[in-house]
Amino acid sequence: MHGQHAQVGNLADLATAWIRDRLTHAPLGVVGDKLQLDALLCGSITEAGLGPEAAWTTFTDVVAPNNVGLDSERFLAFIPMSPSVAASWMDAMVGTASFSAESWLEAAGAVDAELQVIELLARTAGFPPTSSGAFMSGGSIGNLSALAVARDQAGPRAVVAVADTAHASIDNALHLLGLESVVVPTGPDARLTGDALRSVVGGRDDVGVIVAAGGSTNAGVIDDLAGCADVAGELGAWFHVDGAYGLAAMLLPELRQRFIGIERADSFIVDPHKWMFATAGSCALVYRRPELARAVHTQHGPYIDVLRIGQGDGDGTGIAYNPCDLGYQLTRRASGLPIWFALAVHGLEAHRHAIRHGIRLAEKMADALDALPVTELVTRPDLGVVLFRRHGWSLAEWRNWADRLLRDGIAFVAPSTYRSQVVGRLVFMHPRTPDSIIDELVDSLR
Ligand SMILES: Cc1ncc(COP(=O)(O)O)c(C=O)c1O
Repeated sequence: MHGQHAQVGNLADLATAWIRDRLTHAPLGVVGDKLQLDALLCGSITEAGLGPEAAWTTFTDVVAPNNVGLDSERFLAFIPMSPSVAASWMDAMVGTASFSAESWLEAAGAVDAELQVIELLARTAGFPPTSSGAFMSGGSIGNLSALAVARDQAGPRAVVAVADTAHASIDNALHLLGLESVVVPTGPDARLTGDALRSVVGGRDDVGVIVAAGGSTNAGVIDDLAGCADVAGELGAWFHVDGAYGLAAMLLPELRQRFIGIERADSFIVDPHKWMFATAGSCALVYRRPELARAVHTQHGPYIDVLRIGQGDGDGTGIAYNPCDLGYQLTRRASGLPIWFALAVHGLEAHRHAIRHGIRLAEKMADALDALPVTELVTRPDLGVVLFRRHGWSLAEWRNWADRLLRDGIAFVAPSTYRSQVVGRLVFMHPRTPDSIIDELVDSLR
């Protein structure tokens, strides 16, 4: 199984060709049928093995085609993925090399490359040079990790103020951490404001944490981060910004102003696998004061304490640059290396340019929906999400619409809800989504 003589046939050539092909064109895919898949996959694990040819065919004919292509340029649902070629190849290498990026001792090179990205984000946010962070496997674990530190700081003030638009992972994290939430309603623009927050939690002595979004998921709206930071200051509460989806857009100088207030956060996250064109499984988690996170997340034990002595000190300053001390993950692939490599290859401006494509398409789509008599925007897009109503459509029509678009190869879309009403939702992110899709979508809504 290992080494030069591993019996895998011409797997290297087949796999390389498959990856090259996928990077050229990702299909929209299909939602696989459970009974059919079970029938085709049962028996694929045997005592003697199927051998490389049969196993490869099972992958290419059964496994690979029965998925939806989040990386398709026509995938406009949930939060799409559009990993760059450079990020994808580096991801393949990360998997192969088993860089154990939980600690400096095991993976100093990989951890330091990841830190370049963390520092870029911290600098862009206006955090002090003493801030730091680590990569985690995704936004949910990033939010959980940050909120665990927030809980430690909040002490007995166990109530967390969240917007009614907060991502589900926040609610889940609070539940896991035994924290209680107070939900603050957003206004007609789906934005959490400092004023709304103050009117709900002002003067309360049990609120120890405030969470805002640097781009909410459903409507793609950037909360009033400055107003929320003011309230956090008044209450002495921890201020966490969930920027998993949208905070990458602060890299755009023309949008930086909209994220004003992020510089006063105690922690924030950005998912490079969303709008920074990295491969799946990547969250940058940043703390203003990383020492507070170390106090919460450092794991101790007979075989791992060595991570914090000798070489584990990193640069000899006494600070151990161990990602595992900053979040709830020990063994961890170097999930920040793909984005670091893509940034190293193409530079920041190419990434900004790619982000701008989604914003431009969202604006174009919003203009088209505005002009259509049968549709109405829920709110003008702040970033790359367009949320809209279609007069006269019930859930059945929305479902038909989604089925039709997928069947015709136009797009993968998924209706959403806004204030209990079924609405259309389109997320523009892939830098290769063609402008012509706007007319195709408009036609489908007439
Ligand atoms: C704002 C926000 N926070 C958190 C998450 C969860 O991230 P992940 O799916 O990487 O766990 C998402 C995912 O879409 C998100 O949009």
